[in-house]
Amino acid sequence: MAPLPLHTWLDGTPPPDGSGAAGACAVVVDVLRATSTIVTALGNGASYVVARTDVDEAFAAREELERAGEEPLLGGERGGHKVPGFDLGNSPLEYEAERVAEKPLVLCTSNGTAALQRCREASRVFAAAFLNAGATAAAVARGAEPVVLCCSGKEGAPSLEDICCAGLIASRLREAYPFEADDATALALLCWERHAADVPRMLAACSHGRYLASLGFERDLDHCGRLDAFEIAATQKEGGKLVGVA
Ligand code: MLT
Repeated sequence: MAPLPLHTWLDGTPPPDGSGAAGACAVVVDVLRATSTIVTALGNGASYVVARTDVDEAFAAREELERAGEEPLLGGERGGHKVPGFDLGNSPLEYEAERVAEKPLVLCTSNGTAALQRCREASRVFAAAFLNAGATAAAVARGAEPVVLCCSGKEGAPSLEDICCAGLIASRLREAYPFEADDATALALLCWERHAADVPRMLAACSHGRYLASLGFERDLDHCGRLDAFEIAATQKEGGKLVGVA
């Protein structure tokens, strides 16, 4: 088996050499909290999730689904807070089965959904978090393309929690296939090795974790730190719909 390239975008943006996600399998990570919310919603039975970056586009997507006879929920945040007029915020704990089962979801967040949109030309796209790292790695390893681990980060800056999670996924991928990791992936693997023994502590100490705790979202940190709580990969199908696959 020839090794496949394994790249990590530490701050969520493609390298300046022009190599984007086209032709690659892109794994988008926003542990706090967009991809954790997507995985939780799909794990609790939401029919699919569509990601939007712009608030007006998100309202328009909900209206379009309503016109098509669906009963969508619109969720997301600005500054960590629910957007006025949205049905839900971006706390994964709001996305319980009683609320989301069999419903489509439109999610609009500050960084995570933008990272998903940046990767839309990839041959396959996954939304991943600690919650489904193992299922994601297993699904990714079933393909044979180069892999890009896209850490969403925050406003263009790297986030420790996303880099740790990318390192975890990279370590699982390397157990399944002889990937050839770039230096950014080597850094992500080091971050993961450093924090693997105490993920809750890392989430409480990282800057977005501290910000969310200051808003009263401490329980979100506990939830987002649960490794492999869901046995589903969240993968993008036609129309940009993210669905859960076992
Ligand atoms: C984002 O996409 O920026 C986030 O998930 C922010 C958050 O809700 O914590």
